[in-house]
Amino acid sequence: MNTDINKLRELIRYHERKYYIDDQPDITDAAFDALMRQLEELEKASPEEDIPSDSPTQRVGGGVALGSRIPHRSPMLSLDNTFGKDELLDFGKRVQRILEDAPVEYVAELKIDGLGVSLLYENGILVRGLTRGDGEFGEDVSGNLRTIRAIPLRLTSTEDNPVPPVLEVRGEVFIPKHLLDDINVQREAEGETPFANPRNAAAGSVRTQDSNVTAKRPLDIFIYSLNYVEGLEVTTHTEALEKLKGFGFKCNPYTELHNSLEDVFIFYNQWVEKREEIPYEVDGIVVKVNDISQQRELGSTAKSPRWATSYKFPAHQTITTIEKIEVQVGRTGVLTPVAILEPVKLAGATITHATLHNEQEILNKDIRIGDTIVLERAGDVIPKINDVLKEKRKGDEVAFQFPDLCPTCGTPVQRSDAEVAVRCVNAGCSAQLKRRIAHYASRNALEIEGLGPATVNQLVDNNLVQDVADLYTLKAEEVGKLERMGPGLTHNLLHQIERSKQASAARLLVGLSIFHVGETVAEVLIDHFLSIDALSQANTEAIEAIPGIGPQIAESVATFFEQNRPLIEKLKAAGLKCFTEEVAKAPQVLEDTFFSGKTFVVTGSLTDMTRTEASTQIKARGGKVTSSVTGKTDYLIAGEGAGSKYDKAVELGVEILTAEAFFEHLGEN
Ligand code: IVH
Repeated sequence: MNTDINKLRELIRYHERKYYIDDQPDITDAAFDALMRQLEELEKASPEEDIPSDSPTQRVGGGVALGSRIPHRSPMLSLDNTFGKDELLDFGKRVQRILEDAPVEYVAELKIDGLGVSLLYENGILVRGLTRGDGEFGEDVSGNLRTIRAIPLRLTSTEDNPVPPVLEVRGEVFIPKHLLDDINVQREAEGETPFANPRNAAAGSVRTQDSNVTAKRPLDIFIYSLNYVEGLEVTTHTEALEKLKGFGFKCNPYTELHNSLEDVFIFYNQWVEKREEIPYEVDGIVVKVNDISQQRELGSTAKSPRWATSYKFPAHQTITTIEKIEVQVGRTGVLTPVAILEPVKLAGATITHATLHNEQEILNKDIRIGDTIVLERAGDVIPKINDVLKEKRKGDEVAFQFPDLCPTCGTPVQRSDAEVAVRCVNAGCSAQLKRRIAHYASRNALEIEGLGPATVNQLVDNNLVQDVADLYTLKAEEVGKLERMGPGLTHNLLHQIERSKQASAARLLVGLSIFHVGETVAEVLIDHFLSIDALSQANTEAIEAIPGIGPQIAESVATFFEQNRPLIEKLKAAGLKCFTEEVAKAPQVLEDTFFSGKTFVVTGSLTDMTRTEASTQIKARGGKVTSSVTGKTDYLIAGEGAGSKYDKAVELGVEILTAEAFFEHLGEN
């Protein structure tokens, strides 16, 4: 009996490998499903403790999938970037100099734009999977990674290629780009915000709380390095990749060995031409010295190895036209013009909108309805209009008339000399309310999963909520009547709303949509006042006295609390935990770090970390975090989609750190 069941497991593993790793199935899907069912039946009849964790049925586990922060065996470094052929050749010269002109072979690989992970195998069994995290510590996502069929739960061991007792590999988890649209259609149907690009989709799917969600996503992986091994000698990177393939790992097939960087450059150019044909998002190439003893000789800096570099592809660009211009009302009443585009594919996502920022931007660039434009996306989350092709104008393009009335509630808009923004000042405007609630539920605020824009719109349109506190008195009967809200989604939404009561005071403060109060300012305010209650009693002077808080912010916060006492009372009555629990005292601050005594501004998305987490980490290392870039700022940490703060930093000559460089510095302490 036992041998039968084990043979069946072996057979299924073989077919999994043929299907998910080699892409050469030799049985039909139906036949494969039948084998799986047979195994499930046999396992049902056997005691639970007899089912091994590496059985093909054990991919989706129950319980919480996300776990603790775990130190990496060796830091997960990032790669230096080379821009242009000259810099690639400079990389080669550095390598040659250190290696005293010994012959060097280079491996050229595709740089997959996904989520870096580390997988640990003991005696051939997958025991742990971590995200990159800050490079030093990763997040335990074992439960989620187990659901990815291209990740073997048990390695193939043969006489010629026996699996070593301990093995740690690293690779990139990704989602095929043509499947992003399908996922987004479904997300939108469930009221969730669509993923901006395949990388975010991969990262979001691996870092979710529920491994059932991960299991449903078409995640895949390419293993790109053997990071640690006991009981196995390899002398080159290509040899390591061959061994890994033998163990059943999926490695990228377009990997080439070259004797010169001139040839690597040809590889690069070929893929610049062909990148759109690759079914997954590739943002450049990676060049690695092949010989492992040479790699050791070259060593690493704190940030990146000296034996490897990346060479990024140019930003994705495409041409499309502006079909119309709409004006959206934001959560603080700001009216933002948005270009509605003829839909185009760009870097794996279908793009239908591009922000035009404000009225002035439209005038400065002379953007008209009907214009042909160049749309660009440089790894950024938000695509931008790079150029207006005026030579393509036919004469029927229409200049845009910025409205004088709010497009939602019809209240006359307010223009002021102090700012370019045009505002709707009607606090009861339903567009603002919808945005405020969606923001309240967003990832950096109260993080209420399942409360995306589609659901929010329905809640407001059906008069079920008039402010964010009304979320806490929603009843299942009411929610269940909304479109697409079956009993499952209703239950889940109410559960998530209930869960949000545990949020910190800083998150609640972010969620309240106070002008000028983002994550950083919220942290600073709560660090000082320790509770929303104390902050809500403070006057402008008291708030302005806090270092890093300017008069505009102070005024805005004090006015908000003056005008919204009933809302705060309602939230308190709803039982939000942060009203009753003291904020923990600040943790001990490390001394003599890269961050000590320096002032930082964090902007854009850091992918692996929220901005709140980033500022906590900076403060724990003795740094100061402020919200706007000034002459006093030492560094701007610029994540994806960094905008005006980035421009300001360039203008003021403030040093800019990429998210990766920031993570490296965090890793130093
Ligand atoms: S090697 C020490 N090879 O790119 C360098 N990385 O900044 C180890 N990536 O986070 C990385 N494709 O997750 C390597 N073929 C490839 C890669 C690759 C994608 C990611 C990796 C890392 C980032 C480098």
